[in-house]
Amino acid sequence: MEEKRAPHVLIFPFPAQGHIHQMLTLAELLCLSSIQVTFLNTHHNHHRLLQFTNIQSRFARFPGLFRLESISDGAPDDHPRPSGFLPDLTAMMHLDSIISPHLRNLILSTRHDSGGFTCIICDGIMTFAIDVAKELGIQSIAFRTISASCFFAYLSYPHLQDGEDLDEKALTVPGMEKEKFFFRRRDLPGFSRQFRESPLMSDSVLEFCIKETFNSARASALILNTTEDLESPFLSQIRTKFHKVYAIGPLHSLAKNLRSPKIPQSHNSSSSPNNGLWEEDRSCLAWLESQPPKSVVYVSFGSIAVLTKSQLLEFWHGLVNSGYRFLWVRRPGSISGGDEAYSDDDWNIPAERGCVVKWAPQEEVLGHRAVGAFVTHSGWNSTLESMAAAVPMICWPKAADQPVISRVVGELWRVGVDMKDVCDRSTVEETVRYVMGGGGGEMGRSTAEIAEVVRRSVSEGGSSYCDFQALVKELKSGCR
Ligand code: UDX
Repeated sequence: MEEKRAPHVLIFPFPAQGHIHQMLTLAELLCLSSIQVTFLNTHHNHHRLLQFTNIQSRFARFPGLFRLESISDGAPDDHPRPSGFLPDLTAMMHLDSIISPHLRNLILSTRHDSGGFTCIICDGIMTFAIDVAKELGIQSIAFRTISASCFFAYLSYPHLQDGEDLDEKALTVPGMEKEKFFFRRRDLPGFSRQFRESPLMSDSVLEFCIKETFNSARASALILNTTEDLESPFLSQIRTKFHKVYAIGPLHSLAKNLRSPKIPQSHNSSSSPNNGLWEEDRSCLAWLESQPPKSVVYVSFGSIAVLTKSQLLEFWHGLVNSGYRFLWVRRPGSISGGDEAYSDDDWNIPAERGCVVKWAPQEEVLGHRAVGAFVTHSGWNSTLESMAAAVPMICWPKAADQPVISRVVGELWRVGVDMKDVCDRSTVEETVRYVMGGGGGEMGRSTAEIAEVVRRSVSEGGSSYCDFQALVKELKSGCR
């Protein structure tokens, strides 16, 4: 009889913060389930993870189960990376030719040294890894870091009519007739309209993302960081094209639960490891400690979005004029024209009213009793973290999946206001007042309800919990 081999999974995220974040949490969850994981990054991000996070001590409790590997992104390590993670943004469309040969070598040398990988879980926008896995006879699973609603929108793109009217009803969702929910043209995933100022971001990036969405079907299964309980109508549509979909999110909530299942989540906020590529400034937690409950607006635009100086100043004045206190993440490189486009005078505000940091421990910030609302670019991680912490959102999406997410947050789940395409100071002031004031009562109720939905789905017997167990079973049973 053939000897049964222990599972060994290669996890390979796209080289950007929001992707590494989710897939690193998945790596931890698999290690907790006694599955051996090799986590593969580009050299550049590998070094940043080692520099800014406690990744090695975090995974030290899984001796023999976790290993880090890195691979070239085609440029020397000291080459400037204006987009933060790749030599330039368009490089994302050419990673195949740069990375495939290195990936093949890594797989073959691991096979030679230690028996090899039994499965590759690759980022769903790097489907060339599925082809490499097929060629070498290994199972592959695609992991996409976006919401099911956005995945559905990408799948629907080929059937949409061209049109100019941004407010036109562009996409309805089968099964959601009762909710009367639909996407306008301005809610669809995109790059060119939102990145008018950047010639690098064009419709070719959109075409690439659509193509990769369809290509993911070449893998044996699809993993999404979402839950059936939130996105069932979108997941049903995806399942008409993908025969096996694991909805195992929100991963950060599932991980909190599985790390210490006996501790209720509300008392478990200290267990939020830094998955980031920047050093966390934890001094903002001390600042939050001295603020009254639900008095602070948290402001962060994620890891990629870049704002113009005038957009940033409109947000700044809107917040100052609202009279509320705020904690603002001003990530290095997040201002077009460079960080030096600012003088400290632009940010002159008494310390008790405002705190500005370069990078915050976001999960802990959102879980803090002093935070009452979140001004966000509607990245999927930020959205999930906010919903799990029952913090209502003021959504100002920039690009990619964010316009879809802000629409769902504002119109379907009603846990925030979609401020898409507008950020003049009076709108910011009015929206902050509305959301901090409870959003007419309804928003407070919906945020509490959604947080409960999330809590249930990752608890034992919940839909995400069960889907994750099914994934583990598949990863273990496929091995001989
Ligand atoms: C982008 C997409 O918009 C997102 O939907 C996709 O899944 C990945 O690529 P990004 O712009 O980074 O991601 O936003 P988001 O998905 O919200 O991720 C940001 C992450 O950084 C969050 O997990 C957040 O907790 C973390 N973060 C952000 C910090 O830890 N500290 C900060 O100061 C800011």
